[in-house]
Amino acid sequence: MNAAGADYVIVDRLSKVYNEGTRQRVEAVAPSSFTVKAGEFVALLGPSGCGKSTLLMMIAGLDAPSAGRIEVAGRAMTAPRAETGIMFQDPTLLPWKSALDNVLFPFLAAQRQAANPPVDRAAALLDEVGLRGFHDHKPRQLSGGMRQRVAICRALVYEPDLLLMDEPFSALDAITRDEMNLVLMKMWQDHRHTALFVTHSIREAVYLADRVLVMSRRPGRIVEDIRIPFARPRGLEIGETVEFNKICGHLRGKIEHVPH
Ligand SMILES: Nc1ncnc2c1ncn2[C@@H]1O[C@H](COP(=O)(O)OP(=O)(O)OP(=O)(O)O)[C@@H](O)[C@H]1O
Ligand SMILES: [Mg+2]
Repeated sequence: MNAAGADYVIVDRLSKVYNEGTRQRVEAVAPSSFTVKAGEFVALLGPSGCGKSTLLMMIAGLDAPSAGRIEVAGRAMTAPRAETGIMFQDPTLLPWKSALDNVLFPFLAAQRQAANPPVDRAAALLDEVGLRGFHDHKPRQLSGGMRQRVAICRALVYEPDLLLMDEPFSALDAITRDEMNLVLMKMWQDHRHTALFVTHSIREAVYLADRVLVMSRRPGRIVEDIRIPFARPRGLEIGETVEFNKICGHLRGKIEHVPH
């Protein structure tokens, strides 16, 4: 668990230009600054192509910034860190491995740690996300939602202090997506890692997050930063309230009217 209240992620005038100096030059992220507090759940919302994945990949240390600075847990980010968990839209499971071995994959792949993988922790995580009885199943024997549950466990098996998620549920149907939001909320409340969640969905952002950041169209920059006031734990029924819909309407207006 992170110490509450301190800035855990600091993004300072971060920008990204792809293919600089060529005719394919793309300014993906305009200089952007924000912070995420320890234990906070922040959603990053913006139109397609505005640079959300680029921003997240820079914070993961998987893509180099063109300018600016990232600090995570008090240290300048220069390379990927083992303490950062990542989830993508595609669960990217290995088809020939069981659910349990897929969760353990980060350990099995890191040669030094392959001898002693945390089998009990991985099994407990699978139970926590509702996959008791499915540990030995292969991905093709699991539904789309179940595969993303395995991917959540794989992201959490290193006990990350920071969880970065890039539209992890956008390929799922609406009912499964609601279920996955509940699973994610429960896991976040139990483990209390700092979380940054990229989504196109205004409702998903408002349901999940303590704060929602809105990015403008490309080149993306942060044009709104609002606090979501609902107490936790949150049930899906908060989505029916006037206040919830008012916040969604406000964010929709920001996205529709953001300048280019
Ligand atoms: N490796 C790359 N090389 C060149 N351009 C890239 C590269 N990756 C992304 N881009 C460009 O940067 C811009 C932002 O892309 P990015 O994937 O970050 O957007 P996004 O907000 O995540 O979009 P979506 O919501 O559709 O996933 C796009 O114009 C994209 O074409
Ligand atoms: Mg993206």
